[in-house]
Amino acid sequence: MTSFQPADLKLLGDLIQERFGLTFEGVRQDILGSRLRPRLRELRLDSPRAYYEYLRFHPRGDAEFDRLPALITNNETYFFRETRQFEILIEHVLPERRPAAPSRPLRLLSAGCSSGEEPYSLAIALHDAGLPPAARSWEIDACDLNPERIARAREALYDETSLRACDPESRRRYFSVEGGRFRLKDRYRVGVRFFQSNLLAPGFALDRPYDVILCRNLLIYFGDAAFDRLIGLFASALVPGGYLFLGHSESLFDRDTELLPVVVGGSVVYRKTAKP
Ligand SMILES: C[S@@+](CC[C@H](N)C(=O)[O-])C[C@H]1O[C@@H](n2cnc3c(N)ncnc32)[C@H](O)[C@@H]1O
Repeated sequence: MTSFQPADLKLLGDLIQERFGLTFEGVRQDILGSRLRPRLRELRLDSPRAYYEYLRFHPRGDAEFDRLPALITNNETYFFRETRQFEILIEHVLPERRPAAPSRPLRLLSAGCSSGEEPYSLAIALHDAGLPPAARSWEIDACDLNPERIARAREALYDETSLRACDPESRRRYFSVEGGRFRLKDRYRVGVRFFQSNLLAPGFALDRPYDVILCRNLLIYFGDAAFDRLIGLFASALVPGGYLFLGHSESLFDRDTELLPVVVGGSVVYRKTAKP
């Protein structure tokens, strides 16, 4: 197996970063190479540079760009990941936000939702807190770059790995077994709307304001400029006083943003300054 030239991987990595925000610098260059190697073989291209040229100049380049997210994204996720954040949301954030918007549903966004485990965990937490969607008290939007993951999210049929943090009681209550896999029960799917989207596409804007945005374990894969752009997008999309939840290894420390860290329920979350 021939190894790829670092300069070729850099050229391709820069194009990917510009388009999707994802960075493949340093040690991650090898990850990019190994993820794309089978595709290059299929296209009979012998180097990342040739693939770069294919993407940029071939008549099927745009279609190839559409295929890329399924090849290069890390979609790792599972139900009730970082579960303390769901508790904080229910115990602290919702009681504060609901009186602020009494005449409309609370709007929540799971940005980078992968195959849906995160927004569905949110829906389950809301149900269990006595807030079913039929009461029109909340709406969840969920988006991801990878269309294959959005299709899986809509199907709501999961393997054991997605349920790794679920105890036997949760499995029984929230899922039905189907051919050795786990189907999320219909009542937890209502009120969750999925859409495919590149959050960094030029001109992309979230089309409505949100009370809460979860963007967990996505920014770790972004370069600096993309990180700042995405935080800017969230800052515009949040209502004054709205909250942003990041993953445990992500932080806005040292970033120039109007989203300020606040400690809620013992964890750091970010809040858009409320208008005086
Ligand atoms: C590691 S998963 C995290 C899933 C979930 N938030 C969690 O914490 O379990 C990161 C997701 O971000 C998505 N993603 C990466 N770049 C994106 C972009 N530019 N726009 C939208 N989603 C993106 C990936 O496709 C992937 O499914």
